[in-house]
Amino acid sequence: LDNGLAKTPPMGWNSWNKFGCKGLNEKVVRETADTMVSSGMKDAGYQFVILDDCWQTGRDASGNIVADAERFPSGIKALADYVHSKGLKFGIYSDAGTMTCAKRLGSIGHEYQDAKQYANWGVDYLKEDWCNTLPGQNSESSYTLMRNALAESGRPIVFSICEWGSTKPWLWAGSIGNLWRATGDIQDCWDCKKDWGGNGVTQIIDQMNGLETFAGPGHWNDPDMLEVGNGGMTKEEYRAHFSMWALFSAPLLAGNDISNMTADTKEILLNKEVIAIDQDPLGRQGRRVKKTGDQEIWSKQLQDGSRAVVLLNRGPAPTKIAVSWTDIGYPDSLSASVRNLWTANDLGKQTGAYSAEVPSHGVVMLTIKP
Ligand code: DGJ
Repeated sequence: LDNGLAKTPPMGWNSWNKFGCKGLNEKVVRETADTMVSSGMKDAGYQFVILDDCWQTGRDASGNIVADAERFPSGIKALADYVHSKGLKFGIYSDAGTMTCAKRLGSIGHEYQDAKQYANWGVDYLKEDWCNTLPGQNSESSYTLMRNALAESGRPIVFSICEWGSTKPWLWAGSIGNLWRATGDIQDCWDCKKDWGGNGVTQIIDQMNGLETFAGPGHWNDPDMLEVGNGGMTKEEYRAHFSMWALFSAPLLAGNDISNMTADTKEILLNKEVIAIDQDPLGRQGRRVKKTGDQEIWSKQLQDGSRAVVLLNRGPAPTKIAVSWTDIGYPDSLSASVRNLWTANDLGKQTGAYSAEVPSHGVVMLTIKP
């Protein structure tokens, strides 16, 4: 969406993955804003503090959306002011149907009124979900309506479309949203193919492959929020998850309790070199350039002409993976500087290829610079 926003993928925190419906309240959100600053996340680029489902109850007599007074006794405006006072931005959630997925009121029929209300509160980011829509309700026209309402609200508001990839939003949402979910809800697991179609990290990686031509500054494919730090995966798996999201130019929305992070979780979420790959101003989504069984090579072109490369090992044992320069669009004869982004080591000039031992369910992430 060409509204001047999200020129690089949005970064921040969203309440859903960790706190769900029941755990959301203003205390959690305030503490999160505090920690975003004190942990160094703000300095690393994390910006938005986003409430997901369950902040709202009903509408007042004039139809204005009303916050849940038990969980948000100070009101949404005060909370937004608090978040802004920390130098951060504030996000909120609604739904294009009659009710949200957790059965709070949705925005249908109130798009302009809600957008105005958000603007008055100081909202900087809106995620709009797709539960409880009417029979036959059209996604493209519903999201267009909210885009127009936000444009008229008088405040710049990043617009996040959340219909889970169900109507192939990459084909129509480029001028409607700043980002659109490309997949169903992420699960906190590496490989969790289930009868109902679970979306572990590897399932999402496969669904993102092929969508790279649709992403760019202001309009991003969204593989869903991060699970780093939520406990369901190993350190290697979380590192791979974060690396792949950066390679995808995905929004980096932490989905854990950032007020209680282990050293490992911090080390992953705060790796500035990996974040810089995500935030590269060229805004290319990386793609899979080679797959041999469980061994994959992913490459992303960067603004300065170099490449970010992820060597991904999906298999059960450590294995050696070799990237050759021709895999990533360079001539064999080129001498290029290689750097490992997780060990922060320069590996010197290499010609033609580079290979490394990659842990099981893990990555080696590199930059390769001519
Ligand atoms: C479905 C979305 O995909 C999730 O990210 C979350 O917003 C929930 N709905 C909330 O009910």
